[in-house]
Amino acid sequence: MSFSERIDRLSREIQEAQPQNAAEAEGFRLSWLGRKGAFAEVFEQFKTVSPEEKRAFGQVINELKRAAEERIASFKITFTPESRTNAPRVDLTRPVALGFGGSRHPVSLTMERITGIFRSMGFGISEGPEIEDDWHNFSALNFPEEHPARDMQDTFFVATDPMLALRTHTSSVQVRAMESQTLPIRTISPGRVFRNEAISSRSHCIFHQVEGLYIDKDVSFADLKQTLLTFARELFGANTEIRLRPSYFPFTEPSAEMDVWWGLETEADHRITKGTGWLEILGCGMLDPQVLLNCGIDPEVYSGFAFGIGIERIAMNLFGVTDLRWFFESDVRFVGQFGV
Ligand code: DAH
Repeated sequence: MSFSERIDRLSREIQEAQPQNAAEAEGFRLSWLGRKGAFAEVFEQFKTVSPEEKRAFGQVINELKRAAEERIASFKITFTPESRTNAPRVDLTRPVALGFGGSRHPVSLTMERITGIFRSMGFGISEGPEIEDDWHNFSALNFPEEHPARDMQDTFFVATDPMLALRTHTSSVQVRAMESQTLPIRTISPGRVFRNEAISSRSHCIFHQVEGLYIDKDVSFADLKQTLLTFARELFGANTEIRLRPSYFPFTEPSAEMDVWWGLETEADHRITKGTGWLEILGCGMLDPQVLLNCGIDPEVYSGFAFGIGIERIAMNLFGVTDLRWFFESDVRFVGQFGV
């Protein structure tokens, strides 16, 4: 091989070298610049070149050697431990790993379970706006003018004249259902409600309720009780016991609050049930005749019951969440634990 052929070949090899790892890069370095490498041979042969050619060849060889050194340096950058050698190679074109999808929120899961139970009993679903007027949130539901729930303490007002507020309960959707649907009515209304309350581990200014409404001829308190017992047993288990305690709501008469028997075995049971073993989950009652009248329904012909279920309390206990604020912090490490 002539001297110039040898140089051409080496030049091509230096340009085209594509080492795949640090070891191959080191192999190129040794084969070009090592003691017995290509350049050692080239310099050896250079001695035999005629004096006239020495000048031109000398320059070519020096340039080629600089090119080889540059290539080696660039391999070093590619393959040094700090950059790529040991670091996992990241292939940005790979499809995302399965199982890295989003997950359903425990409050949504709880609402879906509850609405599913009532749907299976023949209830439809109604929705209403989160910003409500005085009529639907208060007046039609028999809240007297001076009722403390209308106080600035509890309600987030949006406008004063006429009044608009963030709804304080989903009972507002009852009124809308009575005004717009044909009788008999059997509907539930899941949704978000707002109250101007201090935020703590057990209460928040935003929470969720599922409202229920059933109006027909001859609806009795026994129907209410059996419906709620069926619901509780579907949600908490077939042996669940309930109790109804007399209570007061302006829009129902009589009114009650319903507890489910939670148990009193562990320290957590004591904390959750405040030492009673009973967990309060909803308010309910027979619709006050005045409310039916307010919504254009004849209370001489029709009667009905209503209930309002608090979702967060149930979700906390179904999923063992001890601080209600977690529900509203959108931390995927929290939300990802409960289901897909
Ligand atoms: N609206 C009540 C509340 O937010 C809950 C409630 C009680 C709803 C009795 C009802 C009911 O429909 O009949 O505290």
